[in-house]
Amino acid sequence: MPVVVMASGTGSLMAAVLDLAAADDSPFRVVGVVVDRDCAAADRAVEADLPVVLSELRDYPDRAAWDAALTAAVVELAPEWVVTAGFMKILGPAFLERFGGHIVNSHPALLPAFPGAHGVADALAYGVKITGTTVHLVDSGVDTGPILAQRIVEVLPDDSEETLHERIKEVERVLLPEVVHAVVTRGVVTDGRKAHIK
Ligand code: GRF
Repeated sequence: MPVVVMASGTGSLMAAVLDLAAADDSPFRVVGVVVDRDCAAADRAVEADLPVVLSELRDYPDRAAWDAALTAAVVELAPEWVVTAGFMKILGPAFLERFGGHIVNSHPALLPAFPGAHGVADALAYGVKITGTTVHLVDSGVDTGPILAQRIVEVLPDDSEETLHERIKEVERVLLPEVVHAVVTRGVVTDGRKAHIK
């Protein structure tokens, strides 16, 4: 089962998905990595001998043109599933039209709490005692798609955003590959805004 992974940062979460895909008995293989900027994730993908697509919004006249070009580039890779592992752009309507229902994202908070690009800092600032990570299907909203799995992470009194985010990432690096494995092998049923892995 071909999978494309999209990333924007260090690529540690992407690497966890690549590692599972590389296992001899893996039910899926990563056929390409898409990045929206020059980042360590791209370097890791090159080291793994994977095709890397760099699709920068600033290279296009507007978001619609970027959305269309990104969609065409991922269609070329012909994935069954797309995994956003720290991809920091909102996917556009053309991309969602083509891959909607088959895009899995990992968010470092217990949605619907603390969506968006600062979920860890927002949870810390709010003073919650537990937070965690959410794996969900991507829809047209910001971290609003049907939830597939969640895992909690305790907030420690002396946590900084960095220490808390790293502990959350440790959990993400286990949960996201597990969920990808499950959805590619068992599939997903959705009922309105709810989703369940078969
Ligand atoms: C992860 O916490 C992910 O949930 C968030 O960005 C982070 C990516 O981490 N969207 P890394 O760049 O793979 O280390």
